[in-house]
Amino acid sequence: MRVEEVVGDFVALKRKGPRYLGLCPFHNEKTPSFNVSPNLGIFKCFGCGKAGDSITFLQEHEHLSYVEAIRWLAKRYQIELPEEEQTPEQALEQSERESLAVAQQWAMNWSIEQLWNTDEGKRIGLSYFHERGFTDATIKAFQLGYVPEQGNAFAIAAQANGFNPEILEKAGWIKRREDGTAWDFFAGRVTFPVFGLSGQPIAFGARTLKSDKKLPKYFNSPESVLYVKSRSLYGIYHAKKSIVEQQLCYLVEGYTDVISLHQAGITNVVASSGTSLTEDQVRLIKRYAPTVCILYDGDAAGMKASLRGIDLVLKEGLNVKVVTFPEGEDPDSFAKSHSSSEVNDHLTRSAQDFLVFKAGLLTQDVGDDPLKKAAAIHDIVESIALVPDQVLRSLYIQQCARLLTVNEQALISEMNKVLRRQYRKQVGGEQPVPEEVIPEAIAPPQPVIEDLGTTPQEANMLRMLVAYGHKRVMVPLESEDGGEAEEEEASLAELMFELLALDDIMFDDPLFRAIYLDYRHTSNMGEAVDTARYVQHEQEEWRQLAIGMLTEKHTLSPNWKERHKIHVKHESDQLYDALQEAVDILKERRVDVMVRDRQEQLKTADDESMMILLAEIKALNEVKWKLAKRTGRVVVG
Ligand code: CTP
Ligand code: MN
Repeated sequence: MRVEEVVGDFVALKRKGPRYLGLCPFHNEKTPSFNVSPNLGIFKCFGCGKAGDSITFLQEHEHLSYVEAIRWLAKRYQIELPEEEQTPEQALEQSERESLAVAQQWAMNWSIEQLWNTDEGKRIGLSYFHERGFTDATIKAFQLGYVPEQGNAFAIAAQANGFNPEILEKAGWIKRREDGTAWDFFAGRVTFPVFGLSGQPIAFGARTLKSDKKLPKYFNSPESVLYVKSRSLYGIYHAKKSIVEQQLCYLVEGYTDVISLHQAGITNVVASSGTSLTEDQVRLIKRYAPTVCILYDGDAAGMKASLRGIDLVLKEGLNVKVVTFPEGEDPDSFAKSHSSSEVNDHLTRSAQDFLVFKAGLLTQDVGDDPLKKAAAIHDIVESIALVPDQVLRSLYIQQCARLLTVNEQALISEMNKVLRRQYRKQVGGEQPVPEEVIPEAIAPPQPVIEDLGTTPQEANMLRMLVAYGHKRVMVPLESEDGGEAEEEEASLAELMFELLALDDIMFDDPLFRAIYLDYRHTSNMGEAVDTARYVQHEQEEWRQLAIGMLTEKHTLSPNWKERHKIHVKHESDQLYDALQEAVDILKERRVDVMVRDRQEQLKTADDESMMILLAEIKALNEVKWKLAKRTGRVVVG
């Protein structure tokens, strides 16, 4: 068994040379630091430190016992294990799940057959899809089908095929009358299979073709041991690859929105199927991407009603964006009446940050009413308080303060109240509550301290990001067999995010950190970021810093290829090396600071801690030597 296959069943992994990289499923992160090494048969997250092999992965991720993990692997690789004793309930559930899976697969094939190869199917079902603008390829890709109007065509066919009526009923395909005769629940409807993560049909939505408003538009399969609605998302199977690639997941309401957007070339899209999102669904999305973009149809009332529901998404630490459509349009109709590139443009251009969007919406009907204003402030602050990342929270406070025309400090104290209440709820009792510090990025400038720490190195790093982040760079990939190295293209910013995440390096300086996170956040959102964003930034402090950095007399830092007399072909070659060097130097300096800190502690240490400190200093110095060797710098002392 291969660790990348086992882990790959749960985490979207991208190949990077000899290893695989993905978003860690064990902690909340936006840049991948979760590594899988096929050679060693292990995974390791450089963010949270979780590491292990295939079995530990299954134990931790799927909450399995050791024995259960082994059994899972045996099943995955079709290895026969000596028969395990199941409890009768387990055996029953297992066999029911299997029977349901077989029935749904068979039913799907049957409904597809009806659609394409029967007169009625072609005349009614297929022409309906065509009228809606679905192409044959689309209809096939989503395995859409049709159930004849007759009323029991399915029941007869399925039972003739040996399916047990009880299973067919649990699968949602038939209903039974008192006398035991069966009728087709989906008769005269077109069918939309809902797929599980591995592409097997687990449920169906069946749309009526009649315009009678009294008829429910959709009939859906009931929940079963195979289909738990709150844990599935329509379209996830077709979308997951592209969600990973784009690092963004679009969220729509209905089956047809998903399908139409797909046809317009937007494939990273899933539907909540008309209900508000559940925690499980949000976590499912989070496995694949750090950002959700919600596509609202142009109905203001509906939009307001759903605002609260989004809090759940914020709480899980996902970035939330919003796109609205013109009055009366939904993603489906918009995709149909516009070209692919127009759809694409609309999605990228009109995407707004959710909290900013919400603040705007709330201020609309505040007017001069101070009570309404207070309510609006309270409402928005409640949402901001849910964002787990403190730096992001402070950015939101700033932006919303401007939108609501209140001062930041007022918002901060309001937020502190909310945070205190949340904290009490979690901890219970009357424990003292840590005060949310005034976010440093917006706090008055701190007095300058003697030791610069790694500030100059951080400044250099940030300067590279702001000046060259958008530049494309060729990255040499180590090939597996150690043969010819391949190259891959990426932006300098992406590489920086990856390199820093790999060693869990974050900027200490609050202003630098805010800009770095803004850059990472914005570019993860799929927006192009470049120098202009900061040089023209509305925040004076950011602008000053960016301009200062760019106008400073500065050449690309001394390049080791040059020093080692290696011929430099392209400027992009140089950028990549400069980045690596900057990272190494920052690491080196960080280690330095750590050494000095230990040396300081030595002065007052007792015997036992002295031994520990000395050992730490030794280990740190070794790291420093290794880094210094790479950067070609001389280590003194
Ligand atoms: N829905 C449902 N039962 C209904 C109505 C809606 O289950 N009676 C769910 C379906 O999952 C549907 C989603 O809510 O896809 C959104 O509803 P709606 O916008 O009315 O349906 P669409 O999928 O957009 O269908 P159409 O475009 O054909 O109207
Ligand atoms: Mn619709």
